[in-house]
Amino acid sequence: MRFLIFGDVVAKMGRRALAATLPQFREQYQPNIVIANVENLAHGLGVTGKSLNEIVEAGVTMATSGNHIWDKPEGIELLDQENSILIRPANYPEGTSGKGWKKLSVDGKTVLVVNLLGRVFMKDLVDCPFRTFDAVFDAEPADIVIVDFHGETTSERGAFAWHVDGRASLVYGTHTHVPTADERVFPRGTGFVTDVGMVGARDSVIGVAPETALPGYLNAKKTRFTWPETGIARVYGIVADVDPKTGHTTSIQRITQEVDIA
Ligand SMILES: [Fe+2]
Ligand SMILES: [Fe+2]
Repeated sequence: MRFLIFGDVVAKMGRRALAATLPQFREQYQPNIVIANVENLAHGLGVTGKSLNEIVEAGVTMATSGNHIWDKPEGIELLDQENSILIRPANYPEGTSGKGWKKLSVDGKTVLVVNLLGRVFMKDLVDCPFRTFDAVFDAEPADIVIVDFHGETTSERGAFAWHVDGRASLVYGTHTHVPTADERVFPRGTGFVTDVGMVGARDSVIGVAPETALPGYLNAKKTRFTWPETGIARVYGIVADVDPKTGHTTSIQRITQEVDIA
């Protein structure tokens, strides 16, 4: 079973870049499931129904998120909708809106998609992502288990992959918006990459216009961020094949494409 996965899709430029490239990627790779992280989808912060529809129309079938999912009330409403394709990290405390995992039925196989938030250098007070995974994994048996680990550090995400090796089919990182070149399969069959990278403006600071990102570093000025809407966009993603019989990843590759958004 083939998964086409995108990390954080950032603002209008990310949405347009995905819409411009996804049909061709789908044609080329013929994925069974297309997953994108939507925490930055609507003007860089959070998600709305309209912005989510845009990428669903382009071919995204499942949406994960992260710490920015709470930034727009509309996004929280989407989390609470019945049969929502949108999930949030599972390790937010009990009582939080939405669900942290979703079970899909694909070609007679069950695919469990789990979203987790790291705790290292993250402000949100969440439960242990390692133990939360253990609990979800035991409670929700599935043929294939896919994990979006939304984390700040490379080490926490790498340690997590070792923790779930042989149980999760595929673990991929999101949140840092920069792809890492360490895609591999762990000894017991878990595919892994520390960060998938974003879909968004190339000439930016992780998606944000440099002129609004720089003042915070140079003179502590709190500048309102803006997100470039035209120019070159980078589309980063991964394509992974999982054997439904074993639940193991058989191949994982990175994809990178630039597209001119006029
Ligand atoms: Fe993000
Ligand atoms: Fe994030």
